[in-house]
Amino acid sequence: MDINRLIDMTIQPEIFEKSTSQMWTDGYISRNMLKAHLDPNTDAASRKPYFMDDSVKWIKEYICSNDVGKQILDLGCGPGLYTSRLARLGFNSVTGVDFSRCSIEYAERQAAEQELNINYVCQDYLSLDYTNSFDVAVLIYCDFGVLNEVERNDLLSRVYTSLKPQGKFIFDIFTPHKYRNHVNSRTWTSNQGGFWRPTAHLCLDTNYWYAQERVHLQQTIVLGENEDFQVYNIWDQTFTIGKISSVLKSAGFEDLEFYTDVTGREYEEESDTISIIAKKK
Ligand SMILES: C[S@@+](CC[C@H](N)C(=O)[O-])C[C@H]1O[C@@H](n2cnc3c(N)ncnc32)[C@H](O)[C@@H]1O
Repeated sequence: MDINRLIDMTIQPEIFEKSTSQMWTDGYISRNMLKAHLDPNTDAASRKPYFMDDSVKWIKEYICSNDVGKQILDLGCGPGLYTSRLARLGFNSVTGVDFSRCSIEYAERQAAEQELNINYVCQDYLSLDYTNSFDVAVLIYCDFGVLNEVERNDLLSRVYTSLKPQGKFIFDIFTPHKYRNHVNSRTWTSNQGGFWRPTAHLCLDTNYWYAQERVHLQQTIVLGENEDFQVYNIWDQTFTIGKISSVLKSAGFEDLEFYTDVTGREYEEESDTISIIAKKK
């Protein structure tokens, strides 16, 4: 192991510095991530089942005016927890995109077993290439905030193109309030095997808050057996209503509506999350 490189990595990184390895698509980590998605008792990777039930109900009744013929695109669909609920509510044209092969394969197995007609695509949504294809696109569980400015604008442009005229993009983001009690922290743990690695490893965990940009970083450096180390940076760009409005308007969206979450709960000042409906012209 290159100890000088490791020490360098323990210095606060430049904003939006990339991880040295991708956690969502890693063969081992993605299996543990799938377990987290499917655990009904934690909000770690997906929200709890009652929340998802409320969310698809809102999408059907409010966003789609109960028209189950609407074509829906779920970006970062994970193991299909929303897509399968939407299909069970009667939607017959649902597409889920995710770059985790493990999650997509699980989603496909579930759809086959439950005889649900859902189109799953294993793809990076930053290479999305649909045109005028969907009435509704969703990106749920604050994944928008992990993107840097260039990626974010690229995704918005791809989503805009993928929507039909008057189509709606629904997504959620964290607000700066989520980190109101933030303190920079450093901890380390030793594990005989766990979430990050199947064998003995050390985890060095750090949290940073980039006050000017209102960006949070949760960083885990994993030192495993027989390997160098990997750095996993989980970025979170937080947004106020003013900031997200200007980003969306620059991308061409209009008629913005704001809620507290993707169940359509009324917007509350100082909430940790905001959800947005943004319409294509
Ligand atoms: C926080 S999880 C949310 C999953 C799902 N929306 C839910 O709420 O149950 C984020 C998901 O986005 C996927 N993801 C992250 N970046 C992606 C990208 N660039 N392209 C496609 N999928 C991505 C991950 O694999 C993961 O399944």
